[in-house]
Amino acid sequence: MVSSDFGANFQWGVSSAAFQTEGASTADGRSPSIWDTFTARKGKIKNGDHARTACDFYQRYAGDIDLIQEMNIPNFRFSLSWPRIMPQGTGKVNQQGVDFYNQVIDACLARGITPWITLYHWDLPQVLQDRGGWTNRDVVGWLEDYAACAVTHFGDRVGHWMVLNEPAVFTGAGYFFGVHAPGLTGLRNFFPAAHHATMAMGRVGRVLRSALPQAMVGTTFSCSSVHPLRNRERDVQAAIRADALINRMFIEPILGLGYPVADLKALQGIEAYMQPNDEKELPFAFDFIGLQNYTREVVRHAWIVPYLRARLVPPRNRGIALTTQMGWEVYPQAIYEMISKFSAYTNVPRIYITENGAAFPDEVVNGRVQDPLRQQYLEANLAQVLRARQEGLNVHGYFAWTLTDNFEWAEGYSPRFGLVHVNAETQQRIIKDSGRWYAGFLRS
Ligand code: FCB
Repeated sequence: MVSSDFGANFQWGVSSAAFQTEGASTADGRSPSIWDTFTARKGKIKNGDHARTACDFYQRYAGDIDLIQEMNIPNFRFSLSWPRIMPQGTGKVNQQGVDFYNQVIDACLARGITPWITLYHWDLPQVLQDRGGWTNRDVVGWLEDYAACAVTHFGDRVGHWMVLNEPAVFTGAGYFFGVHAPGLTGLRNFFPAAHHATMAMGRVGRVLRSALPQAMVGTTFSCSSVHPLRNRERDVQAAIRADALINRMFIEPILGLGYPVADLKALQGIEAYMQPNDEKELPFAFDFIGLQNYTREVVRHAWIVPYLRARLVPPRNRGIALTTQMGWEVYPQAIYEMISKFSAYTNVPRIYITENGAAFPDEVVNGRVQDPLRQQYLEANLAQVLRARQEGLNVHGYFAWTLTDNFEWAEGYSPRFGLVHVNAETQQRIIKDSGRWYAGFLRS
């Protein structure tokens, strides 16, 4: 397999996110985000890790973008920090925040790297959470204002935009399970947050489209293929419900199909948060959708779990030996299954894989990081993407997660996802063998 097998127009890249990499959490007028507040709460993050310095991308961006160039990666997806650009959440713009992203964008362009911007990768300004955050319907308007500000400043040089990163994860983990910021729980938080996130995609998509008619406007979704534990009716039905929640709930309203209530009755609860015109406003014709896939889920019927009546069976309980540091099964067919599932929607114009990667416990030995498992993971996943492409499915790009080892949310720094190793004390960077492999693959 060589990269040219994917065709000349296939987009290759690497992805990152502001909160996970930038650090400089109080520099130059940035206000706290919900993740600063959450990481400061005792017991929320593994080992008490925090992201006050992270990878220090705020100061080291030029060197890090040099590494992207050194690895022959033509596209860089990163996110903007809302609290850096608009510390009060709305209204006044912080010029120093804008200056920083101008420098990042210009550094990319100077090296022939195309910047792809995610507007919202989970770091809501805390001041907006104080007003209810995603549970407050006003969040849609706040995000529209912030988006309008971003296109005003960066739209002259940035032609690829994504509204949200993985709404299912930030609303599910942050507003239902409480394991991500802002740490809220229950359906009374999840349903409004989920509906407002879904509304925000279309509304902000329209803001981007009208300001930048030539730009490629997208948004990203987490996805995992869902398999029943056993081929018996109860598990099959459980898998259908879990699939509605994990893969379908956020994209289908955008595609004009509404929430998948027929397959997951409990989703009817979301209707309480809908206003009369919402159904008409939800659909939006994105230029692309970003799919982010890491693994599959295996599901069994569980009457004890309210609403869903299903539960995930962890790989170790299925006798799976090879999992990543996240406990995720290495199951490369999942990415093919997801491309195929999303290609089957009639109105998805194009799919990019905007994240895929694996965390393994790398070590530096004599200045080198040998990480054959990560390379194997990437190669096996790419082989599945190629298979999808050869079957004529609708996939047009692949972005590896991620550039540098970084702050992996509630898991802190222990999972290492980078193509580049980072020593947290010295901030020294070493391109891992997998990064060198990716560089060679892209050179071909
Ligand atoms: C995704 C997130 C990303 C990173 C990877 C491992 O869910 O979008 O920020 O944490 O998982």
